[in-house]
Amino acid sequence: MSFNKSIIEIIKNRKSIRTFSSKPIEEVTYKKINDYLADVKNLLGPFGKLARIQIVPLTNNATKKGMKVGTYGFIKGPQAYLVGIMENEKIALLDFGYIFEKLVLYLTELNIGTCWLGGTFTRDSFEKEIIFNDKEFIPAVTPIGYAEDKRRMFEATLRFAVKADKKKSWEQLFYDTDFATPLRKEEAGKFAVPLEMVRLGPSASNKQPWRLVLSEDKGTCHFYLAHTPKYIGNKLGYEIQRLDMGIAMCHFELASKELNYKGRWAVKNPSIKMPDEQMEYIVSWETEKS
Ligand SMILES: Cc1cc2nc3c(=O)[nH]c(=O)nc-3n(C[C@H](O)[C@H](O)[C@H](O)COP(=O)(O)O)c2cc1C
Repeated sequence: MSFNKSIIEIIKNRKSIRTFSSKPIEEVTYKKINDYLADVKNLLGPFGKLARIQIVPLTNNATKKGMKVGTYGFIKGPQAYLVGIMENEKIALLDFGYIFEKLVLYLTELNIGTCWLGGTFTRDSFEKEIIFNDKEFIPAVTPIGYAEDKRRMFEATLRFAVKADKKKSWEQLFYDTDFATPLRKEEAGKFAVPLEMVRLGPSASNKQPWRLVLSEDKGTCHFYLAHTPKYIGNKLGYEIQRLDMGIAMCHFELASKELNYKGRWAVKNPSIKMPDEQMEYIVSWETEKS
């Protein structure tokens, strides 16, 4: 594992950065990022798909001057972009969410600011820099650099508009045995912390579409995707909310591992009664019997 600090603390400290200082990233930090990206383990998702991630320095195509890269996001003054490349396919998108979020957490540990950008940013400006095979596309990119101490008014307004600081409550996200019974924190047993780490994760337009059901014996956690109806993000040519699910898996797994809980991913739909058609079963985390 490449992390030196507590992953739980890193998750608590991360938030999207859209205004960067002019301070260049030091050589030693660039080297760490390059080393991280050169290690194939870091590019492999839980379902076994490999992502590619490339550093794109700022050129004429991706300029420093507040380039418009998102439907609702303007990024100011980053030093470079990290560009993710993956197949556009259901499982690969989950893996990509997991892999890219792990990278985001690593960058957070290095004190580098990030912001997932998956909206309709001008993909062309990056596509010119990258050679693709015919199945690949860019699910997301992140600017990198040091956060500017003083956030722009624009950024504060944006955070307000997408309610970035409003994370859904436990009762809205987590369930006990079935979808009829919200899970209280006190009932979550050893999974209280991994669940809380899911809750703190970033998501497209802060929709937080993850819903988790803890099994009656408290040994298995089932992950569901509550598709946001009529969400503009679903009209991008790929299912952006699958990235959010990969992010949830990443936070849950890394927090569980830090706490020395042994477990593994398994696709075993428990056939719990669904509350509506928007809900889709994704994967389960099973405690390993020792
Ligand atoms: C898959 C994904 C796509 C995103 N796309 C954009 C984007 O296009 N523009 C933007 O400004 N923020 C984007 N974000 C950042 C979210 O708006 C942000 O994570 C959310 O508002 C919660 O804020 P936080 O990350 O500070 O916790 C994206 C996040 C995710 C996970």
